[in-house]
Amino acid sequence: MVLDDAPREGASFIMATNTRHHLLVSLKEAHGNWVSGEELSRKLGVTRTAIWKQACSLRNEGYVIDSSTRKGYMLREALDRLLPAEIGASLRSKRLGHRIVFEKEVDSTNRLARDLAISGAVEGTLVVAETQTGGRGRKGRKWFSPPGEGIYLSLVLRPRFQPAEAPKMTLLAGVALAETLIPVVPSRVTIKWPNDVLTGGQKIAGILIEISTQIDAIDYMVVGVGLNVNTQPESFPDELRGRATSLAAQTGRPVRRAEILGNFLERFEQYYDLIAGEGFAPVIRRWRDLSDMAGRRVRVHSFSGSLEGTIAGIDDDGTLLLTGADGDIERVIAGDVEYIQASGVGPQESGYKRKDFVP
Ligand code: BTN
Repeated sequence: MVLDDAPREGASFIMATNTRHHLLVSLKEAHGNWVSGEELSRKLGVTRTAIWKQACSLRNEGYVIDSSTRKGYMLREALDRLLPAEIGASLRSKRLGHRIVFEKEVDSTNRLARDLAISGAVEGTLVVAETQTGGRGRKGRKWFSPPGEGIYLSLVLRPRFQPAEAPKMTLLAGVALAETLIPVVPSRVTIKWPNDVLTGGQKIAGILIEISTQIDAIDYMVVGVGLNVNTQPESFPDELRGRATSLAAQTGRPVRRAEILGNFLERFEQYYDLIAGEGFAPVIRRWRDLSDMAGRRVRVHSFSGSLEGTIAGIDDDGTLLLTGADGDIERVIAGDVEYIQASGVGPQESGYKRKDFVP
């Protein structure tokens, strides 16, 4: 967590203060009941004036906090905002997201995260915005980023592994995202190579990783995630309608974004820490469980043209393996996968075995 109030270059850098964060957490824990100024002051180890100051600052951020000289403070409304204090209150990761850069509006959180990485932002810096005017998707596509309805985040990482391993981070992010969504969404959540998370066959989230490398080392990596949270199905633009979905559309109720974001960062960090010790093998295994691609007929569009075949799976290096009409296995490093046959079996019961697709 960023613990200071020091102004950063540009007014748009809003940093959570330690006291403000703990005050918000304490008021939230009271679940709409009053908490006395004295108790807060004792618990947070600051003066009652400091509590008052931070309560005013939370109000300025949009929180509705009642105060009374006799009763203390009461949080009336928990906001579905991605303000640093709100994210901080849902954060359980040990390192990631402890420095938060929040923008009400930005062209692209990936662009901003990249600029921050170039100027030395520490590993785990989280860039988050309420809306993006030029949200980037893969292959130059735009990411639909309506204000207040989605999670648009970018994480600055400085991984120690070789640049050749970088594409597997998309798989890691997909696994962490899918595991975050499974407890929330009633329909099955699946991962589609290379960077889509689907539910009920519709895309709910996408991942865009951008890196800067030397020959044998990664300078920085930006992991961008777009997740549709509270967008209503009819609000998607024509080209996405029917193909995209959101958490609210899937669950039939509004979903609190800060909580989802906190859960995602925790999961992501667990896998990120795991690869430092064990490499990507556990991530690849989990990806295979969570994907329902194996055995499906597809058309893969890559820079060298289109190819039809049946998905054999992914190799240990994250490459897509496709069985062509002649029975040969093609390795696909990059491309878009179009399903031409619906899923038949679930990921757990698919009988997907490494030996089935070894070329
Ligand atoms: C895709 O499915 O094509 C990838 C979409 C990634 C979108 C996210 S939103 C936050 C981050 N900032 C961007 O400009 N893009 C990513």
